[in-house]
Formats: sequence, C-alpha cells, structure tokens
Amino acid sequence: MKPSPIQTSAPAAFSNFMDRRGFLRQGAAFGAGLYLATSKSAVAQAENAQRTLKVGIVGCGAQGQRLLDACKDIPGLEFVAVCDIWNFNRNMVMGRFRGSASQPAQYEDIEEMLAKQKDIECVIIATPDFMHAPHTRLALKAGKSVYCEKMMANTIEAAKDMVRAQRETGGILQIGHQRHSNPRYLHLRDNVLRKAKLLGRITHCYGQWNRGVSASQALDMPKKYEIPADKLSKYGFDNAFQYRNWRFFKKYGAGPISDLGAHQIDLFNWYTGKTPVSVMAQGGVDYYDGKDGRQQYELPDNVMAMYEYKTDEGTMRAYYQVLTTSGSQGYYEKLMGIDGSVAFSESPTYNQIYREPNAQSWEPFAQGENPLVIRAADQVYNKFWEKPKPWTRPKSWLDVKKGAADARESKALENWILPVILSRPPHAPHLENFFTAVRTKNPAILNCHVEEAFRTCVTVLKCYESMQTGNKVVFKPEDFTV
Ligand SMILES: NC(=O)c1ccc[n+]([C@@H]2O[C@H](COP(=O)([O-])OP(=O)(O)OC[C@H]3O[C@@H](n4cnc5c(N)ncnc54)[C@H](O)[C@@H]3O)[C@@H](O)[C@H]2O)c1
Repeated sequence: MKPSPIQTSAPAAFSNFMDRRGFLRQGAAFGAGLYLATSKSAVAQAENAQRTLKVGIVGCGAQGQRLLDACKDIPGLEFVAVCDIWNFNRNMVMGRFRGSASQPAQYEDIEEMLAKQKDIECVIIATPDFMHAPHTRLALKAGKSVYCEKMMANTIEAAKDMVRAQRETGGILQIGHQRHSNPRYLHLRDNVLRKAKLLGRITHCYGQWNRGVSASQALDMPKKYEIPADKLSKYGFDNAFQYRNWRFFKKYGAGPISDLGAHQIDLFNWYTGKTPVSVMAQGGVDYYDGKDGRQQYELPDNVMAMYEYKTDEGTMRAYYQVLTTSGSQGYYEKLMGIDGSVAFSESPTYNQIYREPNAQSWEPFAQGENPLVIRAADQVYNKFWEKPKPWTRPKSWLDVKKGAADARESKALENWILPVILSRPPHAPHLENFFTAVRTKNPAILNCHVEEAFRTCVTVLKCYESMQTGNKVVFKPEDFTV
C-alpha cells in the first residue's frame, strides 16, 4: 500500500489566545509531525508551556489579519494591543476578539502603543514596506522582539538600518519569509535535495507569480470608513489612492517584483545557500499606464529577471517572472536537476516531483514510514505539468508521422509527489518559530534571521538597477554586507 501524504497539522488552540487547557493539549500534540517548525521548537514548547507571551500587532490590513488568524493555531499568546492608523482595519481585527475575556487595547500610533503598553513582549509588524524599518527600530529599541513582514524594506538603505537596529539592540528579529518554516519546503531542501540528492546537480531554477488583471483598491468606501487626508499625510501618504495601492509606488513599496518575488527569489538564495553573481532584468509599466481608463501605477507591473549563481556544483541559472496581467499557471517554484525536477508552491496544487528516465531508481527512497517521495496516484500526477504521453522512439527521422513523437524529443519523466503537506495556516510554523525563539531567548533557532533576509532584499531590489540601465548588474560581495 502506498503511504499517504503526512499532514503536519496542529489543532487550533483558541483563547485570546490563552485557554490553558487548549495550550497544554496542543503542547502534547506537537511532537507528532515529521516537521513542525523545528524539532527544537517542540522541545522548547514543552519546556516553556507555562509562559504566555503578550503580543502587539501593528498594521491590521489583509496580512495583519492573516497573521492574527495564524496565531490562533499557536498556543500561549495573548494579544494585548492592536495598532493601525485606519479605524476600519483596526475594527476588523478587534472583531476577532469578540466574546474573548480580555480585549486588546487599540492604538493609532506605534509610538504611543510602545510608550503606554509596557507589558508587550512581542510586536508583529504588517505595515506597508516603507514603515518596516522605522517600526522595527522603534520596537527593538523599546526592548521588544519583532516579527516583521517581508519585503524587509523598499530600499537597500532602509533594509541596512533594520540589520543595524538588530545588531545595536541584540533583539530577536524574524522576517516574514514564511516558506523557511514550511515543512514541505524543509523536507525538500533537507531530505530530498541535500541528503538523498535525488535531483542531482541543479542547473536551473524557475519561479513565477502570475496574477490576472485586477482593479485598483477601491476608494469608494462608506463615509464613516474614509481615512481623512490630514491623517494620511501625518503618516506619510500623499493621497488615498497611493495609501490603498501603496505597493505600486516607490515611496512606500517596491512593486510586484518585491511584493511577490520576495518569496520566490528568496528561495533561490535560501536553497543554494548562496547569493547570485549577476542579474539581468526587464520590466515596465506596460499595462497600468493610466490610458483608456486603466489605473496609473509608478512601478513596473511585470518583471522578468535572470540570475546567475555559482554553486558548489557549477553554474546555476534562475529565471523569475512576475505578471499582473495574466493568471496563467499561478504561482510556483521549480528546480531542475540532471536527475529530476520538482514543481512546488505554498499552494498544495503544486506538488510534483519527476525522475529523469535515466536517473537511479527512486523506489528505495519511497519505502518505510517516512518516505522521501511517493508515487503519484494515476489521477493526480498529470494535474499540472508533465503530461505522461505514449512514447515510442521513431526508427528514424524520416519515420516521424503527423502527431508522432520527434526522434529528438526527451522521454517523459516519471511522476512522483512529495509526501509532506502543511495543513496549518501557511504562516503558523514561521510565527511559531519566532515565538519559540522569544520564549527560549534563542535567536539562533530563527528560521529567517534579518541578515539572511537582507541578502534577499538586495537580490530583489537590484533588479531595478538592471531595468534602469538596461545592463547586467554584477554583484559585489560588499553588496550583501552591512
Ligand atoms: N508573508 C506574506 O505572505 C505576505 C502576504 C501579504 C502581505 N505581506 C506583507 O505584509 C505587509 C502589509 O501588507 P497588506 O497586504 O496587509 O497591506 P494593507 O494595505 O492591506 O495593510 C497595511 C495596513 O497598515 C496600516 N498602516 C499604514 N501605515 C501605518 C502606520 N504608520 N502605523 C500603523 N498602521 C499603519 C494601514 O492602515 C493598513 O491597515 C506588507 O509588508 C506586505 O509585503 C506579506
């Protein structure tokens, strides 16, 4: 019988979020998965099961709300403060505490929150990118541990400031590249690639995030939810359109290549343990150009970037694209090695791993309680990419008939899947890793330390230099140091 995918889940423990019994129950469940956040995490959870962490969240928009929901999956947290300049989003978050014994205090201004709310131990930052550096510095200086969303910053200088703030304070600072704590990504990296080397030498990587055309964020909110112009200007926004669509304006964000590419370009660095030697990129404001009723954005709505890496095995090239005018094939990452390829993503739809026909058999790796790979079920394996096809090698070139395989065509690859699936909210393991580091006062266990995230930030933002000059940018070692 084929082993079925291992679900690495933990039961939700609600509270605000402090139900003691739920907390202890969940502590016991933690050893169960193949990978949770880290094995150290499970031990530390048990050791510190009595300590509740008091948390404040800054930025209550889409991502702040997702992080808060993910925290319901983590025991031992009490939210004591929520902060946002916009009462509508603050209320959205407060609604999640309805019926809870304790209610978080509400703040508009992070400085006021830090000054008044001395009991906060951890701050989660999910504000627009341009506020990450100042907010992180304020929180670290106030002695708090910080979980700050990706992209770290919209400029390299601001990202450097975050590194410096961490070094000056010695505080715990995790950046929200949540794939670093995702059990499927860890299984692939540690077991399939590094230990068993099932893909052989990886020569190419690919990543894409394709989104279809979408309207800009609406401005026609009911009057009571409008955010006054003087408040916007107090917090650095030029107008309501830019406040709502901050990602596409360089004062606040760094466009889709940063917003979405941050996750996937980061993977190239993270998996290889290297930084690239060069990048060549093209992109532009090709669609959202203000013409024919379309909205006008400032930063490129599509980018294609080619990176070159020198790994221990030789040259590796990585291609990345982000589109905002086509949702074709969604978002995923792909690694291509001489012995196999893998297409995977945070979305469980993408979970295909393929053996090259001439590579060693993978059967030995599919045995036992914790197989590295498992055979794809017939109905599953062709759902996304490599279609199995009848293949008989034509006797010669001239034998090729209409519709038959060309003699030069490669044989179809063998279809497998990865057996580890995350069945918790995607941010839960990464947040949990952060809270464990706080509880154990051990930044060494952080899965995405600020110094590592800084290198990703440079890797991504340097695309702009290439786009502006039209030239290949060759990285210098000092580009990645602070
Ligand atoms: N890790 C991920 O998968 C992921 C996914 C989406 C977004 N993000 C990141 O999360 C962050 C927020 O993105 P979002 O989609 O929630 O944006 P959003 O615009 O929906 O929310 C941002 C919120 O921050 C508030 N805000 C702005 N300035 C503030 C200030 N000075 N003080 C307090 N609050 C302030 C806004 O009012 C808004 O409620 C970004 O850095 C983004 O890159 C990460």
